[in-house]
Amino acid sequence: MTDLLVASGVSKTYFDTVANDNVVALDGISLSIRAHQFVSVIGPSGCGKSTFLRLVAGLDRPTAGEITVSGRKVTGPGADRGMVFQEYALLPWKTTAANIEFGPRLKGLPAAERAAITQRFVELVGLKGFENKYPHQLSGGMRQRAAVARVLANNPTVLLMDEPFAAVDAMTRQRLQEELTAITAHERTTVLFITHAIEEAVFLSDRVVALSGRPGRIVADLEIDLPRPRRWDDMANDPRFAAYRDELTRCIHGKS
Ligand SMILES: Nc1ncnc2c1ncn2[C@@H]1O[C@H](COP(=O)(O)OP(=O)(O)OP(=O)(O)O)[C@@H](O)[C@H]1O
Ligand SMILES: [Mg+2]
Repeated sequence: MTDLLVASGVSKTYFDTVANDNVVALDGISLSIRAHQFVSVIGPSGCGKSTFLRLVAGLDRPTAGEITVSGRKVTGPGADRGMVFQEYALLPWKTTAANIEFGPRLKGLPAAERAAITQRFVELVGLKGFENKYPHQLSGGMRQRAAVARVLANNPTVLLMDEPFAAVDAMTRQRLQEELTAITAHERTTVLFITHAIEEAVFLSDRVVALSGRPGRIVADLEIDLPRPRRWDDMANDPRFAAYRDELTRCIHGKS
């Protein structure tokens, strides 16, 4: 299968104006992601995970190296890369439906097509009945589901997610993880998912890439060969799940 997203020798150095010094956030990251793969990047706080995602999103430029998506070099943001942030990325003055419809409207799609897309994604993320609510009228988990629907409605080539479930409670988080795996498997979405939660990464992914502490370098790249669809009830008793988790924990924390 062809590589959809390729990072070659990507480094990022920031200049810290307070300390008057350079901060090397990422050092020589090379990574290829195939179409339809769900890849998580994990690593300790400050290792450059968000930096990497921002570079892929085109929100910032690498100091060295380059990133291509579908063979085209990333030089700025684009509709082919949809981003879901830790904080809910919804327009507060628009309803759920209007938020989801936002991208298709920007594209200039006719009203009937926009309505069909909106309906499909409302149902896909389980927000039927909440179409006309504003973000402040939704729970945290619902807001995050709406944010996922809003991005998927743009039909992105790759979905970029930066700790999207960090702000929701543990039970909601597990439900959102189960829903996300079901949705992305169904849509065959290519996903680059950032988290510092090892179990979340194993649960969701086809592959987990672990970064070292700053400057982030790749210290492990592990295929997760667990059956789908995945449910937490099954994972809790699966020795393979525990083995992947323990191996990644050793890689990140350097324990043997
Ligand atoms: N705009 C910036 N200017 C200067 N330094 C920055 C800037 N953005 C990030 N950094 C530094 O780069 C390093 C990596 O930051 P980044 O946000 O990518 O880490 P992270 O892995 O996402 O951490 P976390 O898990 O806490 O979200 C940190 O040391 C951070 O202080
Ligand atoms: Mg971050």
